[in-house]
Amino acid sequence: MGQLVNSLSGAIQLTVTDQLNRPVRDLRISLTDRCQFRCTYCLPAEHVDVMRQQSQSENCLSFNEITAVIKVFARLGVNKIKLTGGEPLLRKNVADLVSDIKSITGIEEVALTTNAGLLGQVLDDLVDAGLDRITISLDALEQTLFEQITGTQFQVEQILNSIDQCLDSKLKKVKVNCVVQKGINENQVIPLLKHFRGTGVVVRFIEYMDVGNLNNWKASEVVNSKDLLDQINNRWPIKPKNATHVGEVADRFIFNDGQGEFGMISSISQPFCHDCNRARLSTRGEIFTCLFANQGHNIKPLLNQPEQLLQAISQIWCNRADQYSALRQKNLKQENKTKKIEMFVIGG
Ligand code: GTP
Ligand code: 5AD
Ligand code: SF4
Ligand code: SF4
Repeated sequence: MGQLVNSLSGAIQLTVTDQLNRPVRDLRISLTDRCQFRCTYCLPAEHVDVMRQQSQSENCLSFNEITAVIKVFARLGVNKIKLTGGEPLLRKNVADLVSDIKSITGIEEVALTTNAGLLGQVLDDLVDAGLDRITISLDALEQTLFEQITGTQFQVEQILNSIDQCLDSKLKKVKVNCVVQKGINENQVIPLLKHFRGTGVVVRFIEYMDVGNLNNWKASEVVNSKDLLDQINNRWPIKPKNATHVGEVADRFIFNDGQGEFGMISSISQPFCHDCNRARLSTRGEIFTCLFANQGHNIKPLLNQPEQLLQAISQIWCNRADQYSALRQKNLKQENKTKKIEMFVIGG
């Protein structure tokens, strides 16, 4: 299973590969399964009781427990940490966690995905702690539509201010995620690009995915990235840009007029399972090896035993054969009703 490849700073570094020969490089950590937003595609307001019943903050991994898991993953080749949720900034003192993670040998980058509702208050601390990159979810510029999608009355203006604050900070990269739903916010694609072109913010349009069961996803609600690209190219000519690293989820494009880049995340029409190197850690201490998993691996009992934890995680990764999106594509017409973990639990 594990293969000894080198020795870094005294710590033995192992490389594990799964059943499809994919290494693990990216660990996505859900800091909480709670959220103050009610996005229709993730945590629809009518199902909020599910979150309330499932979520028990006393069961959340502590920051020390999280860093114990990261140390093990770092020995197995993980170099990038994504903090996500639910809404990760509902946890207090996330900046402390960021600085702890930054001191772990092998971890090169720490990124955060947030709805930005609470970002203004903590951004400076996060940046001072060494946060490298941030991704902000923003599905519409138009206030009424934003409220309809997120189930909140949060002000778009305030999110835009937080994005400006990010741009003025030392963050290496600022991205915006927009989940596109047919007939709902397709008309926001051009306005979002118009707003962010030339600012350095990279907007990524995500094909609406069948994560979890509560959103009642239907294939007919997906907007194929190809259609959006045609629309965008008609407005501002674009060309593709090469990926910067293996396993990147977004296809990148640049505006021919030099006004920057944007991305398309096309998990439905062009699955990217073949080089998926992402593991996920839920706030309850379970490892998931796929966004669409219906079962996790509880590693909580091993958190104080680093060597056993290393063995257990290596085994989990070596046994992994997930390729949900690739298999779904082959069978798109047949509706998939299997019970899946919700996005706010597994972490985006
Ligand atoms: P960073 O480069 O670390 O910022 O992360 P990223 O590019 O992976 O982006 P982000 O965390 O913003 O993820 C973007 C979106 O891509 C997620 O919200 C998901 O919708 C989708 N996504 C991320 N990882 C996977 C994956 O493993 N499988 C699928 N199907 N979709 C994914
Ligand atoms: N399909 C695609 N993206 C989703 N996200 C949440 N649910 C879905 C879904 N069903 C995205 C959010 C956010 C990230 C955490 O995950 O837009 O950017
Ligand atoms: Fe909250 Fe993000 Fe889910 Fe929206 S997509 S409900 S902001 S966790
Ligand atoms: Fe990875 Fe699963 Fe997403 Fe495929 S569907 S890219 S295996 S997380």
